[in-house]
Amino acid sequence: MTSNVRTVEEEFGGLEAMEGAGVRLRRLFGHAEVPRLDPFLLLDHFRSSDPADYVAGFPWHPHRGIETVTYMLNGQVDHGDTLGNTGTIDSGDVQWMSSGSGILHQEMPRRMEGMLDGFQLWVNMPAKSKMSTPEYRGVRRTAFPIVKDDAGTVVKVVAGTHRGAVGPVDALPVDPTYLDVTVRPGETFSAPTVRGHTTFAYPIEGAGKFDPAAKREIPARTVAVYGDGDSVEVKAGPEGVRFLLVSGRPLGEPVAWYGPIVMNRQEELQEAIRELRRGDFIKHAQPVVDG
Ligand code: CO
Repeated sequence: MTSNVRTVEEEFGGLEAMEGAGVRLRRLFGHAEVPRLDPFLLLDHFRSSDPADYVAGFPWHPHRGIETVTYMLNGQVDHGDTLGNTGTIDSGDVQWMSSGSGILHQEMPRRMEGMLDGFQLWVNMPAKSKMSTPEYRGVRRTAFPIVKDDAGTVVKVVAGTHRGAVGPVDALPVDPTYLDVTVRPGETFSAPTVRGHTTFAYPIEGAGKFDPAAKREIPARTVAVYGDGDSVEVKAGPEGVRFLLVSGRPLGEPVAWYGPIVMNRQEELQEAIRELRRGDFIKHAQPVVDG
């Protein structure tokens, strides 16, 4: 089998949205794009220097059937959940929360000077895991391996592997890779990807050509969705480029989605809503794992 470099098939610039109790954010993809990015359901980027855009936060709300992955570039988010976890996601930290059968939590950005900047990615869970015991992983910035090469490329490994470095978030159902990559001006980054895994890049600073055949650069804050292949190759523009590179095994299962709850069938959503009303939505408690 010949090896081929993935090409960018589609770009999503996203839409401004208001979520939670009034957080202004950019939704790069979401409900309308299902199942294009299977197993990924949603990517939000909250980025503002005006506290009025984010201090209302995301007060107590449920999740079931998905993982929420919060990565703060800059700023602090206080959280608490029904598993008994409380704490702060700080700049550089990642919270990878597998809701499984269900949690209630709140996520409240702290007022700050300067730019609050962070992402939340939703990863779908397979049918067999949707009612599993919830699991919470709070990972501090110092726990992530940083891989540097001779060209000055810096890769922070959140999940998956890069050049033998293994991210601290593992044993997840869709076998995800989540890298934060910084490439110097004019340099080229390449990395293998698992054939068949859905893969996208999200430039967050600078711009670059995201495949060898690219005629033009993809600017910051645009999702580049790759076709299938064995690797990706990114050439940084004159200002360099920093991007997230995310991939995972598609589930190929039906998606029934109601707000923060994502199941396979409509009846499962209705059951979840009945349980929320009755007060027996929460099925499991779990000890804290904080890295
Ligand atoms: Co949430």
